[in-house]
Amino acid sequence: MTQTPTFIPLLNSVSRAETTAGEAFTEWAQSTTDKRLAKTLRLVAMRESEHGIAFAKRMLELNSEVYDDGLDFTAELRKVVASKRSDLSKMKALGFNKSNPSPDIFDKFFRDKTIDPTTGALLGRYICEERDTGRLLKAEHDRLHAAEKKRKERANR
Ligand SMILES: [Fe+2]
Repeated sequence: MTQTPTFIPLLNSVSRAETTAGEAFTEWAQSTTDKRLAKTLRLVAMRESEHGIAFAKRMLELNSEVYDDGLDFTAELRKVVASKRSDLSKMKALGFNKSNPSPDIFDKFFRDKTIDPTTGALLGRYICEERDTGRLLKAEHDRLHAAEKKRKERANR
């Protein structure tokens, strides 16, 4: 390939965002006392970190390298994770109490019709894993929310 593909900035922002999100979810998994949530957060962290590496690897295969594009998609995630909020409050603040939106940000990813099959396969897997992560985190939110509701009902009795 002689020309730089037009989708390199997309791969770059995904790699950067996923790498830092992986760190944030790892931090959360280590700080929570809820074992079930920790397990889900570890899975999410592994997915995010792996996406960070996979996209950086794909960029290298395309003769590019991850660069600082000045964009920061995980500032809010890092801030909320580092806060003293409860797990449930963190999940609400990050929108994990809501189902995946439709359309979502990923719906635009394939507008670039020059995406090659290898990159397309990586993007497709990434998108489906992100949406699955959304479902997993929503389920964790719902579980914590139900437990909290029960606790409050018991306290009011
Ligand atoms: Fe992600």
